[in-house]
Amino acid sequence: MSSISGFYKMNVDERRAFLKKLGYLTDEDIQSLSSGGLEISLADRMIENVIGLISYPLGVATNFLVNGKDVLVPMSLEEPSVVAAASKAAKIARSGGGFMAEADEPVMIGTIQFVEIKDPNEAVHRVMEQRDNIKRMANEMLPEIIKKAGGFEGFDLKVLYTDAGEMLELYFYVHVLDAMGANTIDTVAEGLAPYIADLVKGRYLLRILSNYAVKRMARARAKFPVEELGKDGDRVAMDLIYAYNLAKADVFRAVTHNKGIMNGIIAVANAINNDTRAIEAGAHSYASRSGKYQPLTDYRIEGKYVVGQIELPLQVATVGGSVGLNRVNKIALKLMGNPTSKELAEIMASVGLAQNFAAMLALVTEGIQKGHMKLHARSLALSAGAKLEEVDAVANRMVELNSITFDTAKKVIEEIRNKGSR
Ligand code: MEV
Repeated sequence: MSSISGFYKMNVDERRAFLKKLGYLTDEDIQSLSSGGLEISLADRMIENVIGLISYPLGVATNFLVNGKDVLVPMSLEEPSVVAAASKAAKIARSGGGFMAEADEPVMIGTIQFVEIKDPNEAVHRVMEQRDNIKRMANEMLPEIIKKAGGFEGFDLKVLYTDAGEMLELYFYVHVLDAMGANTIDTVAEGLAPYIADLVKGRYLLRILSNYAVKRMARARAKFPVEELGKDGDRVAMDLIYAYNLAKADVFRAVTHNKGIMNGIIAVANAINNDTRAIEAGAHSYASRSGKYQPLTDYRIEGKYVVGQIELPLQVATVGGSVGLNRVNKIALKLMGNPTSKELAEIMASVGLAQNFAAMLALVTEGIQKGHMKLHARSLALSAGAKLEEVDAVANRMVELNSITFDTAKKVIEEIRNKGSR
């Protein structure tokens, strides 16, 4: 169940108790959620020169229905409104049947660079002749992956004419199961390079995965009913199309449009210790594939629906690397139903689409600041000591006063309590 009415009105303890009752959280999970889930001793082994930990809020977006399955979406980021916006768009999408998503098999790309080759075309020929050998050698480096039906899936070669002369680049492909795959790919790249350098009669240089993970694409689609877009639904639908077309036509808007998509995707990635830089690098380079930076989503009106779609590479993992080093990562995965990496990509693509739709909807209607300020005011009201039943009144008054600060929250709480006691 992901459609939880009034989840946002509960306080933190109530939300945890609610999720515990539904079987999503144990008492131990709740303890980890309070502590942030990462031990300093472990942190000290994760990166260098550690001096401490830093925490981010972890929220849960509701209402997501992805391929007919209810999903609670864990999101960790510093920005207000994002979780609420995703939940709102997911609710609208839900009334149109939810998100239909699909992702490619988790195949990552590795690259090996060869330089100082006398005859690159002849070199290509020699490597191609050893296709089967290369595959066998690579798979020997991947015993665990082979056991679980992943492994080397082939390679391509390209002769490149660069300012530093001709060079050869070998691209190879490995099914990495539920991992992101960086370690696997880099191991294979380094393992294959000397043998292939002999074949090409040149020198190998860079041996590294490519974050342009275009063999690992994810796509999601949703139908947003026009009748759910307010009383002026037809106008709003048309305005969404205008907004989308601005992003198509203008890079200044397209970058911000895609930033909104990444608000959702990266927030999920943060919750599960995925490599957010890799995801961003892949997404934005894919947005530029035509030579012109483009939005990662597209929209059109189909009858009584605004139909939205997203497509982007998603190099995401449910195991390996840093995933699971923080106990909260495991809780976050559990909330999503312990997906495979492929299912995770489907969920994340859906979240990206939801986030983008919500941002555009806000932009073409009341603007982005109103909701943003209201939410910010709510969280300030809570931290200034407002009781749950006072929060909305305090937040509304702060918006009215156009002063969204901790001090104003304190003053308004007092003012409201004084009025109440008169
Ligand atoms: C803010 O973090 C994201 C937005 O700017 C996205 C957009 O403009 O589409 C609201």
